[in-house]
Amino acid sequence: MISAGIKERGAYFTPLDVAQSLVRWAVRSSDDRLLDPSCGDGQFLALHPNAVGVEWDAATAGVASQRSPGSIVHVGDFFDWAARTQQRFQCAVGNPPFIRYQRFNGETRRRALEHCGKLGVRFSALSSSWAPFLTAAAGCLASGGRMAFVVPAEIGHAPYARPLVRFLCQNFDVVHLIAIRERLFPTLSQDAWLLYADGYTGSTEEIRLTALDRFRSSASPPRSFRRVPVARWEAFSHRVRPFLLPDDTLDLYQASAASKSVCRLGSVAKVGIGYVTGANDFFHLRPSEARGWDVPSKFLLPAVRSGRSLPPRTLEKSTVENWLERDEACLLLRVTARDELPVSVKSYLDSPEGEEARETYKCRNRDPWHVVPDVTVPDAFLSYMSGAGPSLVENRAGCVGTNSVHVVRLRGNMSLKQLQRSWDHPLSRLSVEIEGHPLGGGMLKVEPGEAARVVVPRNGRPFSADELNLLDLGRRTLMRWRHYDA
Ligand SMILES: C[S@@+](CC[C@H](N)C(=O)[O-])C[C@H]1O[C@@H](n2cnc3c(N)ncnc32)[C@H](O)[C@@H]1O
Repeated sequence: MISAGIKERGAYFTPLDVAQSLVRWAVRSSDDRLLDPSCGDGQFLALHPNAVGVEWDAATAGVASQRSPGSIVHVGDFFDWAARTQQRFQCAVGNPPFIRYQRFNGETRRRALEHCGKLGVRFSALSSSWAPFLTAAAGCLASGGRMAFVVPAEIGHAPYARPLVRFLCQNFDVVHLIAIRERLFPTLSQDAWLLYADGYTGSTEEIRLTALDRFRSSASPPRSFRRVPVARWEAFSHRVRPFLLPDDTLDLYQASAASKSVCRLGSVAKVGIGYVTGANDFFHLRPSEARGWDVPSKFLLPAVRSGRSLPPRTLEKSTVENWLERDEACLLLRVTARDELPVSVKSYLDSPEGEEARETYKCRNRDPWHVVPDVTVPDAFLSYMSGAGPSLVENRAGCVGTNSVHVVRLRGNMSLKQLQRSWDHPLSRLSVEIEGHPLGGGMLKVEPGEAARVVVPRNGRPFSADELNLLDLGRRTLMRWRHYDA
């Protein structure tokens, strides 16, 4: 059996009080058969004598068998087992492995996606392991069965969580999510929520959501919850996370977003990723290196290499002059396929550094290898990974930008000054929190598609002081949920 590292297997074990709460709710009679699809060392199995666990790692499975002698523990891949078993369970509990798509690959992923496909759920190749795990675990339930799991907070916003949430609503009478702000796993930067789903083979038109500051042991999910109609979840980009906001804030946000005096960023600007060189250190020269190699200035463009190097509002020529004076590696070697290359540039390309660069994945896969594609001088840059929120920075310096910043080009008739004013509006700032996603460590990330959906006020719809306050409070609420305290 494969015995890989903790991270590869997503092997983070659940605190006892959390496991006890989930099992106490899921098991309704001593005859109930309980499944833990990724049982680890048997934390859940040990809480119920009539249990079946599956665990990939043989050594860990051995510990589980010792800890819960009444249980049956299968060693191997859960998806393989789930595709073959005829057994059905009254309940399933556990904490599925959270293996991101880059590592969740090969045969296991193929089997997982195929099995989920048979259950009617199509996951993309970008799906992390836990979402197919929950789907396949549900598929092992008997009619009327229930399941209770620790789930990554990604269930509230990740695109790959959509098919899972939809499947849950289409297959359970009750779907209840418990968002927990304080970390269940104090040593991980990953936030975890709880999922309770009851009445398998039923269906529901709503998602229940309870937001808690910290986990509380209990034999059942909290009685107080908010009802999120599935249709409203869909209207919020299929995300549960915005519903952490109070009703009045959400109502104001939705009404404002629908008003004519407001538009989406994507309708007034095109947001894209910056260029990808494949070998940043080679393609970005220091002024002293450019002089040393005698590279003509027409082949060099000043480049923004990191969101951190952006000033808050305007990138002036004087900033670039400072970079050059400090001899920073900020000059992109920019040649096109049509350019007649001077000897100096040819010798730089043929230098040992050039030999190394052309072997990188990106360079190997383009022709000619030294022509960096998609280099444009945008109207503005957007820092897309930040704690306080992304800034929209006017490009007055004629710079190009690597993929560590987003590049923004205006379209339509809003000027950049207007757009910057709108971007700073409490409505847009809340919208960025709603459309972007938390990245751990207090950071917010905004992908180009997410940025395009951000709502920007167009021509000064008047907001009352109370409304502005509400929007700002909403933004702070979501920032607190991503652990950024302004
Ligand atoms: C997050 S841990 C949870 C363990 C235990 N249920 C708990 O909460 O304490 C996930 C477990 O899933 C196991 N695992 C990972 N991929 C698996 C797979 N494809 N099939 C079965 N188990 C797997 C890992 O080895 C790890 O022990």
